[in-house]
Amino acid sequence: MAHQTVLVVDFGGQYTQLIVRRVREAGVYSEMVSWTKAAQAIEEKEPRALILSGGPRSVLEPGAPHLELAPYAGQIPILGICYGHQWISANLGGRVERADDREYGRRALHINQPSSLVGTMEQGQVWMSHGDQVLEVPTGFRVTGETASCPVAAMEDAERRIYGVQFHPEVSHTLSGRAVLQGFLDRAGLTRDWTSQAFIEETVAAIRAEVGEGRVLCATSGGVDSSVAAALLTEALGDQVTCVFVDHGLLRKNEAQEVVDAFTNHFHPRLVVIEAQDQFFSALAGVTDPEQKRKIIGAEFVRSFEQHADELSGCDFLAQGTLYPDVIESGSPTAAKIKTHHNVGGLPDWMRLKVIEPLKWLFKDEVREVGRQLGLPEAMVEREPFPGPGLGVRILGEVTPERVRIVQDADWIFRSELRERGLHKGIWQSYAALLDVRSVGVMGDERTYQQPIVLRAVQSEDAMTATAVPLPYDALEHIANRIVNEVPGVNRVLYDLTSKPPATIEWE
Ligand code: XMP
Repeated sequence: MAHQTVLVVDFGGQYTQLIVRRVREAGVYSEMVSWTKAAQAIEEKEPRALILSGGPRSVLEPGAPHLELAPYAGQIPILGICYGHQWISANLGGRVERADDREYGRRALHINQPSSLVGTMEQGQVWMSHGDQVLEVPTGFRVTGETASCPVAAMEDAERRIYGVQFHPEVSHTLSGRAVLQGFLDRAGLTRDWTSQAFIEETVAAIRAEVGEGRVLCATSGGVDSSVAAALLTEALGDQVTCVFVDHGLLRKNEAQEVVDAFTNHFHPRLVVIEAQDQFFSALAGVTDPEQKRKIIGAEFVRSFEQHADELSGCDFLAQGTLYPDVIESGSPTAAKIKTHHNVGGLPDWMRLKVIEPLKWLFKDEVREVGRQLGLPEAMVEREPFPGPGLGVRILGEVTPERVRIVQDADWIFRSELRERGLHKGIWQSYAALLDVRSVGVMGDERTYQQPIVLRAVQSEDAMTATAVPLPYDALEHIANRIVNEVPGVNRVLYDLTSKPPATIEWE
């Protein structure tokens, strides 16, 4: 990337991704890199500033995450956070000690000396989470802040532009945390040029350079990521792009039509719509195991492509709407496989496609902003994430057209009520799922023996963790009544209160 970059060195901290986000929100491009590859990345990317993240280990342990700072001290401005703060001290000649008690939670920070960094904080509440602490600062440093139990909560060597804070400026519990990060970016002399417009211009140029006269296949689900990727590619390449939309019959009510309308009305790509409902339903008949369903849906996507070989065989590139959190997550050697997430993997042999992922450096909210800049309608840009296998993972047990109809109708009622009541704002995902059990009820003096609908609405920043939305009881009650009355086949409605973890966002 041509930008001035802030490289965030990950020492294994829980909030490292958040640091990257906060820096970008301040208008400066940032990437994260594992400490194991940091020296090489610094050489290659020539960052204008380094931020050293927190981490769960102790700098005093042998083999703990490390980065020799001497080559950069005085050359590149450095900010250490938590473990990074301790590492600066340990590595540049200060002293770190194991504290008797772990300090965890909100603390009051006292500023000891004038500081261009922590001195800019208007509110003193900071968030601490550490065991070890810095007891002596390296030569050239001054202690600029302390808390009741942490003698060196902030330190700086203003001349070499090296700063350390024991607290976490990136979390919202540190009330003036943004001022600390912005102060650091200012000290590092960075200009705020990371905007979605700049991203679009650069990416369009990069796509043109990479693709040349080639042709691009853009598989789209109608979700935000693939739609923005399609719009960006169409902006760069016009008719060289063919968008393919597979209607597998597992979309929300009216969604397939909305996708086609939005595409044709807003950025006019070449669009191939594959009507594959019957094909997917026959492949799924009788299948109840979640992983098997996911695999069948993935395989049927491939078959749908195969059946359109004539239209698609001239393509050289496959565009995917991969985002930065996907890149970070798939780079993690320890991440356990919870679900087979559907991507267009295992394509037929005749499609020898190079993959392009124009959004792979962006977070979801940045993708939405790029979509807005490209003129996509708000309804599309604000669309909630929707899983590739669609309602297939929201219908427990066998997927049949009748059960799809039930979920679609219940989902429609739930989400339109949320919208009409203004409750949809701030919700990450909301949906109805259909369970694979029956229960007894009574309706108009008749016994019923039918299936329950589960409603789920979650808040989340990045889908890695989520909590149930505390919807008002009267709204839930009204929605439950409407569903039971208006959707044949349903006689009970439940609301899912479970967070992720231990549950996941989707039911399968
Ligand atoms: P879970 O259920 O694992 O979901 O908490 C996390 C996020 O991923 C979405 N999801 C998928 N997205 N293909 C996708 O493109 C999939 O197979 C898939 N499964 C889950 C889910 O909706 C949530 O946003």
